[in-house]
Amino acid sequence: MPLPAKGLAWNDIASRLEAAKSKDISWRRGRMAVYFYYLDRALEEVQQKAYLAFWTENNLGKRAFPSLAKLEAEVIECGLALLQAPADAAGTFTSGGSESIFLAMQTARDWARTEKRITSPNIVLPRTAHPAFNRAAHALGIEVRRVPTVRNDFKADIGTMQNRIDRNTMALVGSAPNYPFGVFDPIRDLAALAQSRGLWMHVDACVGGFLAPFWKKLGESVPDWDFSVSGVTSISADLHKHGMAPKGASLLLLRSRELAEKYQTFDFNDWERGPYVARTMQGTRPGGAVAAAWAVLQHLGEDGYLKCARLIRDAKQQLADGIRATDGLAVLEPSELSILVYRSADPAIDIVAVAEALERRGWLVGRLVEPAAIHLHLNPLHSESTREYLRDVRDAVDEVRGKSPRSKVGVSTY
Ligand SMILES: Cc1ncc(COP(=O)(O)O)c(C=O)c1O
Repeated sequence: MPLPAKGLAWNDIASRLEAAKSKDISWRRGRMAVYFYYLDRALEEVQQKAYLAFWTENNLGKRAFPSLAKLEAEVIECGLALLQAPADAAGTFTSGGSESIFLAMQTARDWARTEKRITSPNIVLPRTAHPAFNRAAHALGIEVRRVPTVRNDFKADIGTMQNRIDRNTMALVGSAPNYPFGVFDPIRDLAALAQSRGLWMHVDACVGGFLAPFWKKLGESVPDWDFSVSGVTSISADLHKHGMAPKGASLLLLRSRELAEKYQTFDFNDWERGPYVARTMQGTRPGGAVAAAWAVLQHLGEDGYLKCARLIRDAKQQLADGIRATDGLAVLEPSELSILVYRSADPAIDIVAVAEALERRGWLVGRLVEPAAIHLHLNPLHSESTREYLRDVRDAVDEVRGKSPRSKVGVSTY
């Protein structure tokens, strides 16, 4: 697209934007269980209005915008309190889970270099950990040792991880929960192992950070995983996932302020424009993301997050029951939070074919590859689409069994 010779009026632009969306799959109708988080119109308005209130403020400019410094500090305090951090803990507002993980690995690397004289560092983590660790490690010169999940509950195996530790190991990683299966790694055991070897322990709670505490308050069993576990050094927790904030919002939390000051801070003063200090990878940072995350925390409050957790739990229960009741399908167990995975339990049912049949009915289907399965990451909006989804799952299975003619329904255009 060339730059228009003459700028367009908003109406024209708006209709082109709308047209650009015409082939997108409708998240508003819960047609995908990945990429989005939605509660209701009231929250949507809070997100948009708060973002717009700070739409152009630059969160690099702490002197110019003490407002943002205050809002950011309050969001971080909220996260620290929720995850039972000690009084001396510190946090950083980042653009997302990948940046939080990057900063955790960079901080751990620089800590290990100084405190443990490790110059060729490696990290040991279960294979279920997010690819963001490899991205970070690639950029930071860290070797990654992914340890296969040998247990049948998809959790990290302490023994196998322990065997991969050597004198260059700087950190262990566990997820709360992991993305492929939605189960919590045994953080207590991992943190104890890390502590006994003098290692950094990072917990990736990008998915669970703002959901697990409320899930537990609903009376569900959630293993210990946050700063209440001694030996946990850092946690990544996404505001833009179950924190329900608009995208561009995550927290990296560190057990001690000293770690942030000594090893996370980029403090530069070798150009004409004077000192430049930052704790994020970003330079310019959108003020709107901070204001919106702050507003969402205020708007939802404890009861709002409990409501989200309840809606997800109930939707997941209905989906799991419906899938179990569908001949030829089985739900992967255990399943501990907002992620539900199901596979074929019948050689006549190819789960990939079921996924394709669902896509022909207008659903965007997340796929697990090992084992072949269908992956759902649920949010509150899915409570409204469970019946429709289960109906289409049953139809899709019938179609794959050859009971019904191949669906004529095309990919959705709404
Ligand atoms: C467990 C886990 N960690 C990290 C990430 C990366 O987060 P982001 O996509 O916000 O960078 C994800 C994303 O799904 C995740 O599920």
